[in-house]
Amino acid sequence: MSRTFIGDLLIFLSLVVASLAEKKLTNTLFLDDGSVFQVNLTSLHDYSPYTKRIAIEANSISTFNVTNVSSSASFIIFQIHVYLYNITLSYDKDNFDKNSNRSIFGSNVGLFSKVTTNIVTPLYVKNDNVHRVEALFVAIAYHNRSPVPGGCNMEFNTEIAPYTMVQTDDTMITVDVQPASMPFNNVRHSCEKDVVPVEMYHMFLTGWDFSVDSYFAAIISMLTVTDIMENGMQVTSSTVFSPMRRVFSAYTGFGSVYVAVATYGNYSAAYVPAFSYACHPIVDPDSCKILPDFSSNFICALCFIAGLLLLYPKFQFHVNTIQTTYPYILIFRLMSNLTLGWFFGCVVYFSSPESFTILQNNWLFWIFFVTFNLGIALIMMLLLDFASFITCAIFSSFMIILSLDYWIGSTLKYIVINFMRRITVEGFNLAIIEHPTEAKDICLILLWICLALYHFLKQLVIYFINGNRNDSSVFPSENRPLLR
Ligand SMILES: *[C@@H]1O[C@H](CO)[C@@H](O)[C@H](O)[C@H]1NC(C)=O
Ligand SMILES: *[C@@H]1O[C@H](CO)[C@@H](O)[C@H](O)[C@H]1NC(C)=O
Ligand SMILES: *[C@@H]1O[C@H](CO)[C@@H](O)[C@H](O)[C@H]1NC(C)=O
Ligand SMILES: *[C@@H]1O[C@H](CO)[C@@H](O)[C@H](O)[C@H]1NC(C)=O
Ligand SMILES: *[C@@H]1O[C@H](CO)[C@@H](O)[C@H](O)[C@H]1NC(C)=O
Ligand SMILES: *[C@@H]1O[C@H](CO)[C@@H](O)[C@H](O)[C@H]1NC(C)=O
Repeated sequence: MSRTFIGDLLIFLSLVVASLAEKKLTNTLFLDDGSVFQVNLTSLHDYSPYTKRIAIEANSISTFNVTNVSSSASFIIFQIHVYLYNITLSYDKDNFDKNSNRSIFGSNVGLFSKVTTNIVTPLYVKNDNVHRVEALFVAIAYHNRSPVPGGCNMEFNTEIAPYTMVQTDDTMITVDVQPASMPFNNVRHSCEKDVVPVEMYHMFLTGWDFSVDSYFAAIISMLTVTDIMENGMQVTSSTVFSPMRRVFSAYTGFGSVYVAVATYGNYSAAYVPAFSYACHPIVDPDSCKILPDFSSNFICALCFIAGLLLLYPKFQFHVNTIQTTYPYILIFRLMSNLTLGWFFGCVVYFSSPESFTILQNNWLFWIFFVTFNLGIALIMMLLLDFASFITCAIFSSFMIILSLDYWIGSTLKYIVINFMRRITVEGFNLAIIEHPTEAKDICLILLWICLALYHFLKQLVIYFINGNRNDSSVFPSENRPLLR
């Protein structure tokens, strides 16, 4: 019942399905050292990009000779998207240095090319991995009224930088692009701030789907402006740092595509999309597991068993019998109500809409959080014993749900994790916490509600039976002082 087993099974099944639909593989072009690929772009438009699946041999340099570009195009953005590995894409045959201003190194790379009268536009690709890599070659043409993505580059190596830089760490994914410049038909060629607005979009894949076909399908669905707006979710910019940067909360194992769109007047142009699994499947496979070892699985199992045991009436009794003397009841209740208030606060933070940027400010966040927490705790104090029933019901069922969540790889654990990141990770206040929601998340939430209701009602029944046996009143006598 381990998540990795289910994950492996899903990957195996998707591979079986992929091999049944074999058509794609036969379309793959194999490039080895010294090979030249003629790219014929007779009819290329910004709404229908040229795409070609390729496989590049280990330790090789191959050439793309681009010809027959339609004359209506003003510039082309060439892209290569590599599955899991890095390659170098260069303008020149011998400029593969990582710091060169004529080449770009990475998994999702792209170069700008102005359409000139040249008959052939050559591009060079170097794969210095010891493996053959799977890749996708893309060309998108834009006309002279489109803004130029990365045309006002100030920080990246190449003169014009239409690509996206992504840094992934344990908690955050940082996405950077460079400002866009005005269209080539525009006489005023300034790089003033905010002249060409740039918006960012992102899209999640299914969790732990590391298959090559899903990777390329996701990239292909985020190449053109129309597709990006249809398939992606727009994210707001932060007021604090540059509008060219976005920070996202990292959801380990969920692939995601990030792409920016520059708009000027009626015309838009898309940057080169970037991709992250929020972990490193090749460099550090353990980073993609949420239960990497035996001990974490063991703790998870303990949590699950404890949650199940708490469903039994015998154990529910205990909570009520603790409350023997008055000061202890009060402290016990205050603690449990504050905990519940904190938990509800975490749920609100986890599910707060991305536009709720007010929470980015640390002061406002804490004022909101503490007020909310105290408010819930106060309401719960008024509910007396029922508050502890609610607290018990929610937490004991959450123990079951949390361990299931770890095993099946859904995102409910981030209710707590995102809060912990918010208070411990520097800069996380600016992170976009929009999370993937899949069918299994919704099933888990429904199961949680059912378990909590069952637990609550069961406690209620026991409480009334007990109460009636003791003094036939609704509230046991030791609780009376609270009512005065
Ligand atoms: C380029 O493609 C067009 C249409 O697809 C075709 O007519 C033409 O012969 C091709 N040219 C070359 C050099 O392959
Ligand atoms: C590809 O382009 C390069 C540079 O223009 C040229 O030297 C080479 O001959 C071309 N190769 C083919 C097969 O057309
Ligand atoms: C375009 O392709 C045709 C062949 O269909 C070829 O004769 C012509 O030279 C090509 N033009 C360019 C600019 O490469
Ligand atoms: C690709 O390059 C990035 C940045 O240079 C690096 O962090 C990553 O580990 C590389 N990936 C592989 C598979 O080597
Ligand atoms: C690119 O780098 C070379 C050598 O490092 C330098 O001479 C040239 O000016 C640079 N070009 C740009 C556009 O920065
Ligand atoms: C945008 O399109 C509308 C209608 O198609 C047109 O009226 C308007 O002038 C265009 N604006 C620019 C800046 O081209």
